[in-house]
Amino acid sequence: MADTQRRTLSKTASYEAEPGEVGRVLLLYSGGLDTSVMLKWIQDEYEAEVVALTVNLGQPDEDYEVIRGKALQLGALDCHVVDAREEFARDYVLPAIKANALYGGGYPLFTALGRPLIAKLAVEYARRTECDTIAHGCTGKGNDQVRIESTVIALDPAMKIIAPVRGWQMGREEEIAYAREHGIPVKGGTETPPYSIDDNLWGRSSEGGPIEDIAEPPRDDVFQLVTRPEEAPDEPEDVKVGFERGVPVSLNGESLALVELLERAGAIGARHGAGIVDHIEDRIVGLKVRDIYEVPAAAIILSAHKELEKLVGTIHQNTFKPRLDEHWAYLVYAGLWYEPLLGDLNAFMDAVNEQVTGEVTVRLFKGSVRPVARRSPNALYDPALAGFGESGGLFSQQASPGFIEIWSLQSRMAYNIRNRETEDE
Ligand code: ARG
Repeated sequence: MADTQRRTLSKTASYEAEPGEVGRVLLLYSGGLDTSVMLKWIQDEYEAEVVALTVNLGQPDEDYEVIRGKALQLGALDCHVVDAREEFARDYVLPAIKANALYGGGYPLFTALGRPLIAKLAVEYARRTECDTIAHGCTGKGNDQVRIESTVIALDPAMKIIAPVRGWQMGREEEIAYAREHGIPVKGGTETPPYSIDDNLWGRSSEGGPIEDIAEPPRDDVFQLVTRPEEAPDEPEDVKVGFERGVPVSLNGESLALVELLERAGAIGARHGAGIVDHIEDRIVGLKVRDIYEVPAAAIILSAHKELEKLVGTIHQNTFKPRLDEHWAYLVYAGLWYEPLLGDLNAFMDAVNEQVTGEVTVRLFKGSVRPVARRSPNALYDPALAGFGESGGLFSQQASPGFIEIWSLQSRMAYNIRNRETEDE
């Protein structure tokens, strides 16, 4: 034990808490095995009081009363449940939509977007309930520790942090044994699928267990949100998404508040097998990992948004913005929510999105999401100019050869110089 103790409690960063410094802990509590064991463990190991905080970001099928009851039963002074869905949608998911945010080309960042909000609420509730330390259930191998801790110490440099899972050297089996020993209810036990899950209204991820075998396709039991495409309806379904200045505002002509719109889009997409992503990912801590994502809402909304943005943007905006989009996603993935560059990028995204008003229809069919129709008052598209046959006066086909001669000048010159025959050949 002495050995474990030392490993567990020695600190490497200034914001980590030594046992003597911990008086009252704000624990980010999900109700799952890790954080339930932690609730008890902190009271025992640190002789500290624990206040629990549970944040609702729209993870489906959670019973927050049950979670609260469990926290209190395990000795929490109190358990605050915060419904942060609206703030999450408006201040976190919406900027991601405006930035067409996909990390590594496939991950719409739902976890990465949720962490800074969870951490912000943790700081708020820690102060309000006079806690000196924040505890979370992230491991030492993942991105989420980076996101939560860098946010906490940005917002409150005096706040201490403990992450017991990083140090306690308990595997799942030991945790279950600890739980049994301390009267912590363990649900499901061996029947629960062996995956590490995280979800909110913008998507769901599964990691670990059989998913780690990257040479094998994912098992069917991974998919708990999205219908597997082979079992999706045989008839396609069209969904019309309306945007106002980059903000999704309606589905099939019905005006909806953002949370409800995202939830409904998610439900329609899930039925049609939309938004399954099998993703090999570069974590910020250096490891590669495989995630199975189920992101039906993002699959629909991002596809529609991108289509509309292209329609109203110039060739220069359309070739430049994706580079900034990619960097936006990288910064958010990397947990730097308060990095000034992200604010600068948001200003750019907002500026471009001023024009993103209109409607896009996407067709859902057995896992695919495809734009099939679009309409915008700001479209830079004019069928009279682009169509076949004789065009009107505005676009002169006779002028094209002059353009081509000048446009290609440098490239032709360079090509000929690089390929000229040398004298003695
Ligand atoms: N790989 C994703 C990320 O770093 C998702 C992580 C979610 N955690 C989980 N246990 N499934 O944001």
